Amino acid sequence: MCGIVGYIGFREAYPIIIKGLQRLEYRGYDSAGVALLNGEMRIYKKQGKVSDLEAFVADQPTSATVGMGHTRWATHGAPSDRNSHPHTSNNGKLSIIHNGIIENYSSIKEEMIKRGHVFNSDTDTEVLIHLIEDIQEKTNQTLDESVRIALKEVVGAYAIVVISKDHPDEIIAARKGSPMVIGVGEGEYFIASDASPIIEYTKNVIFLNDSEMAIVKRDSLVIKTIDNVVQDPYIHELELQLEMIEKGGYEHFMLKEIYEQPRSIYDSMRGRINSKDGFIGLSGLNEYEEKFKNAERILIVACGTSWHAGLVAEYLIEDYARIPVEVEYASEFRYRNPIITEKDIVIAISQSGETADSLAAIELAKSKGATIFGICNVVGSSIPRASNAGAYTHAGPEIGVASTKAFTAQVTILTLLAWSIGQKKGAIKKTRLMELLSALEAIPAKVEKALQSNDEIKAIAERFKDAHNFLYLGRGYNFPVALEGALKLKEISYIHAEGYPAAEMKHGPIALIDENMPVVVVATKGTILEKIISNIQEVKARKGVIIAIVTEGDVEVRKMADYVIEIPETEECLVPLLATIPLQLLSYHIAIMRGCNVDQPRNLAKSVTVE
Ligand code: AGP
Repeated sequence: MCGIVGYIGFREAYPIIIKGLQRLEYRGYDSAGVALLNGEMRIYKKQGKVSDLEAFVADQPTSATVGMGHTRWATHGAPSDRNSHPHTSNNGKLSIIHNGIIENYSSIKEEMIKRGHVFNSDTDTEVLIHLIEDIQEKTNQTLDESVRIALKEVVGAYAIVVISKDHPDEIIAARKGSPMVIGVGEGEYFIASDASPIIEYTKNVIFLNDSEMAIVKRDSLVIKTIDNVVQDPYIHELELQLEMIEKGGYEHFMLKEIYEQPRSIYDSMRGRINSKDGFIGLSGLNEYEEKFKNAERILIVACGTSWHAGLVAEYLIEDYARIPVEVEYASEFRYRNPIITEKDIVIAISQSGETADSLAAIELAKSKGATIFGICNVVGSSIPRASNAGAYTHAGPEIGVASTKAFTAQVTILTLLAWSIGQKKGAIKKTRLMELLSALEAIPAKVEKALQSNDEIKAIAERFKDAHNFLYLGRGYNFPVALEGALKLKEISYIHAEGYPAAEMKHGPIALIDENMPVVVVATKGTILEKIISNIQEVKARKGVIIAIVTEGDVEVRKMADYVIEIPETEECLVPLLATIPLQLLSYHIAIMRGCNVDQPRNLAKSVTVE
C-alpha cells in the first residue's frame, strides 16, 4: 500500500517527512516524492527508494514548515518518475498525494480532458487534483470546500492530503477505505497512513474515520464529514511501540497478512464482478477473448505457492471453461524442451513478478509464439512487463516470506478467469454464474469466520509442535490446498511435511503412518467426501492422528478425527479460499512455538530472482 506523511507547524517539514516515509517503507513501495510549501510549491519525486529521493533532493531548496510526502505502491500506471506522487494541478497551485484506488477515474479523466485539463501521468490519483482545481476555478470555493465537493464525486478508496500555494497555512486531509492518522502536537500537526511517522513527536492521535476530512492549520484542526457535518474528534493516547505499529498491531507481518485476507480477496475482485447481472470484467482478458475462447490448451507456469494456485486453476478452468490445462514448474518447463505453438496460452503466476525461473519460462514460451497472461501482485514488475496481458492481484505488499494473502488473491483472480472464459464459451449458464459470483462475494466474510478458529488452531499447534513429520491430504480442489499447507509448515517451522492426493496414500506414503504421524486432511463437504472418509479410515487403522478441516456442521468426519477445525460452507470450487486459512494459522503457530523467524525463515528469500 502507499504511505502518506504530512506536516504543518513550526519545524522544518522536510526532515520530518523524509523520516516519516522511511518509517512507512515496510508497507512496500516502488517510488517516493515530497511537496514543500514556502511561497513556492516545490515538488520532488522519483521512482525508486526514499534514499534515491533524498539523493535527488540533496542540493535542492527544501526549507518549509508545511509539506507532505508519499511512497507509492503502483495500482494504476507503472512505477516511474511521472507516475510518482505528488501530482499537481495545471495551474501549479495545488498538489495531492493519495493512497487507494479511484474506481471511476476514467470517467472523471474524460470529463477533465474535455474541460481542457492536461494530464501528466497514467495514474488514477491525478484526476482528483484536476477535479479540485476545476471546482475552485468554477466556484471560487475555499480549498477545503473544493476538496469536499470533489470527493463527493469519487467512487473508490482514498486517503489524500492536499496543499495549495494560495493557502500556505493549511493542509487538507481526507479518507475513505484507506487509513489515516492525525498527530496532535503543540502548535503542530502530523498526518500519516499510520502512527509510525508520528509517534516520536506525539502520542496524541486522532484516527480519521471513513468519509471524514480534516482542515489542519498551524493552530487549529477542524474535522467534518464529506457531507459537511462537523465532528468532535476523540484524541487517543498511543501506547503502541513503533515496531508494533508497522505490523498493524500484529506480532509478525505473516500474521498481519493472514488477517488481511478478507480485505485482499475483496480488493482482488472489487470492480471486476457483479453477481446481480452475472458480470465479470477482467480488463486484461478483453483483447485476448477470442484467443482464450478458442484455446486448445492452457499452460500454467509458476513456482512454489504460486504453482499451487496454478493447480487450483487447473481444476477451475477444466471444470468451468472446458479447456485442457497443464500446470508446470517453471524451472522444469524452461529446460525440458517443451512443445509450444502460437496457439498456446501461458498463464504465469507470481506474487513478486520477479521469479527468475518463471520469467525465463515466459521468455521461452514467447519465443515460440505463445500468448502470455500474467497474474502478479507487484505492478510494473518484470513478469507483467514481459506478458501480453494480465490481471493484478490487489493484495497489497506481502512482506512475510511465506506467501499467504497473495495465494488467496491469485486463486480469486484465477477463479474469475475460469468463469469468465466459461461464460464467453457458453459453458456456464448465466443463472449458475450469478450463483457462483454471489458465493464468491460472500467469501471475504467467510474468511473472517474461518479466522475465528485461531485459538483452537493454536491449541492444536501446541500438541504437534514437536512432531518430526506431517502428512497433508486432500482430493479434487483440495489437493492443491494439501500441498500448500505442507509447504507453509515446512518453510517456516522446518518440520518435514508432504502434501499428497489422499487416494495416492495407498501407493506408498501409508507406510509412514504410525501414532507419531499427524495427518492433516482437508475433508470438506463435496462430491468426493465419502472417498476421503475412506482415506481417513485407512489412516486411523494404522494409528495415524487425524487433524481434519471440515465444513461447519459436519458430523461424519468428526466421529473419526482426533482434531477438527471447521470452515464455513461454500461452493466446492471456492473451498481452497477457506480451507487454506486454518493451514496458514497452524503453520504460523507451530513455527512461533518452535522459536522460528516466521517473517524471514532460514535459507529463504521473498523473491527468488536467481536460478
Ligand atoms: C511461498 O510461501 C514461498 N515464499 C515461495 O514458494 C514462493 O511462492 C515462490 O518463490 C514463488 O514466488 P512468486 O510468487 O513471487 O513467483
